Amino acid sequence: MAQRTLARYLTEEQRNKGVITGDLKLLIEVVARACQAISIAIGKGGLGDVLGEAGSDNVQGEAQKKLDVLSNDILLDANEWGGHLAAMASEEMDLPHLVPHRFPKGEYLLTFDPLDGSSNIDVNVSIGTIFSVLKCPESADLSTPEAAERAFLQPGTAQVAAGYAVYGPTTLLVLTVGDGVACFTLDREQGQFLLTQEHMQIPADTKEFSINMANQRFWEAPVQRYVGEMQQGREGPLGKDYNMRWVASMVADVHRIMTRGGIFMYPIDSKLTAQGGKLRLMYEANPMAMLVEQAGGAATTGHCRILDIAPARLHQRVPVIMGSKNEVARITAYHTA
Ligand code: AHG
Ligand code: MN
Ligand code: MN
Repeated sequence: MAQRTLARYLTEEQRNKGVITGDLKLLIEVVARACQAISIAIGKGGLGDVLGEAGSDNVQGEAQKKLDVLSNDILLDANEWGGHLAAMASEEMDLPHLVPHRFPKGEYLLTFDPLDGSSNIDVNVSIGTIFSVLKCPESADLSTPEAAERAFLQPGTAQVAAGYAVYGPTTLLVLTVGDGVACFTLDREQGQFLLTQEHMQIPADTKEFSINMANQRFWEAPVQRYVGEMQQGREGPLGKDYNMRWVASMVADVHRIMTRGGIFMYPIDSKLTAQGGKLRLMYEANPMAMLVEQAGGAATTGHCRILDIAPARLHQRVPVIMGSKNEVARITAYHTA
């Protein structure tokens, strides 16, 4: 049987199932090509001028790495001329990027975290790109970047596609268009993504958790209780031994969970109260929550489903707990107990 390329998968979603439009197919193919270009840049490492600091800060006050800026530029350049987008927003840009007037304007909005896991770039550990696609409301005011921000403020349930690329030992693209989750592997010789797993499913139960334990003393009581019980293992109330993994690239940590189950947590803690959490809703939590739910898992802040949050700001942060359904249900119950 012929290999199924990303293009063929998307064509079948469009033609046979009617799940996506031609423009959405084009948009996803362009994002995938941009991820290929980012993968090539990352692969150069110390042989290219891609490691180290960019010497600037982003809107969240975080020092930008050269690869944060480069990946952002690659995604902007690839997407602005195709006619499928109205605007883009990114972790690395204060305000939305409007499609320049010289190009046709499309019906979609794209948000992205161009390079996730920046602290891992210079130590050669897996990093990624996360993206989310929304429909642009017909009434949207796109006259200025400031006005355009409002068009993006839609709940995660409105996403029409979401995905991530993980740049690890292999480069993968994990995608949902609301019809389950498919995983594609970059064939470096052919220069294209080939379907390697359809219908990804997260096991409902797990023995693996993912959290930055260095923040333990700042956590709230429900998280203290849950992680404490997991640490008690077989002798504790959960009756089984757990293992812990923390890559510190959300993409890599969630990809492990998409592959073999687990629970990922970046909860609110007492040093994050003012900013509402660590991870960003529009281009980290929402796309990952859509993927996790599409794979049979669950995603919550502890108090509400992530995809139901009505965003107030483009760069809003939220607490994130996601992964194997039964474990997410347990910690959610601890939040209401
Ligand atoms: P980014 O590199 O896009 O800023 O995201 C980093 C995020 C996320 O990927 C990861 O889970 C988390 O920050 C790691 O935080 P700690 O350094 O606190 O572990
Ligand atoms: Mn990130
Ligand atoms: Mn980032």
